[in-house]
Amino acid sequence: MGAALARGAQPRMLQLAKPTVTRPKPPPHQKALRGAVEILQHPLQPRFYRAFNICQSFGETALYFRARSCNYTGDSATSDAMIFRQLFDPVSSTYTYLLGCDESGEAVVIDPVFERHARDEALIRELGLRIRYVLDTHVHADHVTGAWLMKLAYGAQIVLSRRCGVEEVDFRVDDGDVVRFGECALEVRATPGHTEGCVTYVLDDHSMAFTGDCLLIRGAGRTDFQGGSAQIMYQAIHEQIFSLPDECLVYPGHDYEGRTVSTVGEEKRFNSRIGGDAREEDFVGYMDNLGLAHPKLIDIAVPANLRAGRPEDDQLPEKITWGPVTVSFGGIPEIEPEWVARHLEELTVLDVRNAEEFDGELGHVEGSQLIPLDELRDRVGEVPRDRPVVVVCQSGRRSGMAAVILKDAGLKEVANVAGGLINWSRHALPFRS
Ligand SMILES: [Fe+2]
Repeated sequence: MGAALARGAQPRMLQLAKPTVTRPKPPPHQKALRGAVEILQHPLQPRFYRAFNICQSFGETALYFRARSCNYTGDSATSDAMIFRQLFDPVSSTYTYLLGCDESGEAVVIDPVFERHARDEALIRELGLRIRYVLDTHVHADHVTGAWLMKLAYGAQIVLSRRCGVEEVDFRVDDGDVVRFGECALEVRATPGHTEGCVTYVLDDHSMAFTGDCLLIRGAGRTDFQGGSAQIMYQAIHEQIFSLPDECLVYPGHDYEGRTVSTVGEEKRFNSRIGGDAREEDFVGYMDNLGLAHPKLIDIAVPANLRAGRPEDDQLPEKITWGPVTVSFGGIPEIEPEWVARHLEELTVLDVRNAEEFDGELGHVEGSQLIPLDELRDRVGEVPRDRPVVVVCQSGRRSGMAAVILKDAGLKEVANVAGGLINWSRHALPFRS
């Protein structure tokens, strides 16, 4: 056990080419600078030395001084500069995490779900992020990972523990490795017990831990299959997670009660399996008597996840083919006005404003059909179904609702004109007044 969890003697930093997208630089972080001075006065801090060694080999000492020094003084430069989103898959009760560097736009995704890829892609697009790495905490048994789809969509590199034995992986990480994206970084901590290859990813300022199926909120992942061991999990949680600061936020891989976040301190006190004065035999006794049913999807999920989510027949989820339609994070299919203007002959343009607006200041698109939104549910039969329908209004909000109504009425090829006629006029596209 000790060897499995020993901190990596020669940690590696996953770092490829420098970012190609430049973003406006934020103002200097005054607190970080103050921290940098303090760290120089405390050179014997063990974790500092570890980080220092990592950075020296990559010639990025200065940057790491900043992140580590903030950690030392209890500041959180890394999390301050980070975009963070928690996403939920209600079918498997899985949490997916999106972490992005606000400055460079580089991002990572932790534990994406195959069926939620379109949603994740929409959010990533709207936030203007570029996915550099896709990380799984382990080989899941209850859902198929979206890692392969992330790789296809963004050229993201797949990161997984070396102990998972998965072929389609770009970086096999070990305990103590560091995954870096922009100015943010995640430490890899081996936390076996649910599976042999489970890891926890910890933000380098120790403000957040992504614990996968090891430590859950008031619980812990089952240990009765996939090489699991309650004894090993007990040690892993104590050595690798409970050793973090009490205020470190705990973000688990699942929750079945709608709980979203906890802290190390809370779980040390209140976790019903391993909190309070629980000793190893207490935890093992609890875990050995969970009496859980075999996971329903294990026979599909595990083989798929051993391919990092690559479909066996390489069949990808169906895409919309009639036009360059993107589905927004809000769930609305949208299309850009320039494309619509170039393909008017092949489309039905449905305007859902009222009659006064149709003939008013903004005018309307040549040949468009008018059905005000308030009347659309009753008059949906008037909308031709022989060609794709693009819906338009003033700003793209009412037409977004109209697109949903048309979809619900069974029209398959429907999209909202992004930004409506205001956006249309911004691009100086043809109008009829
Ligand atoms: Fe799991």
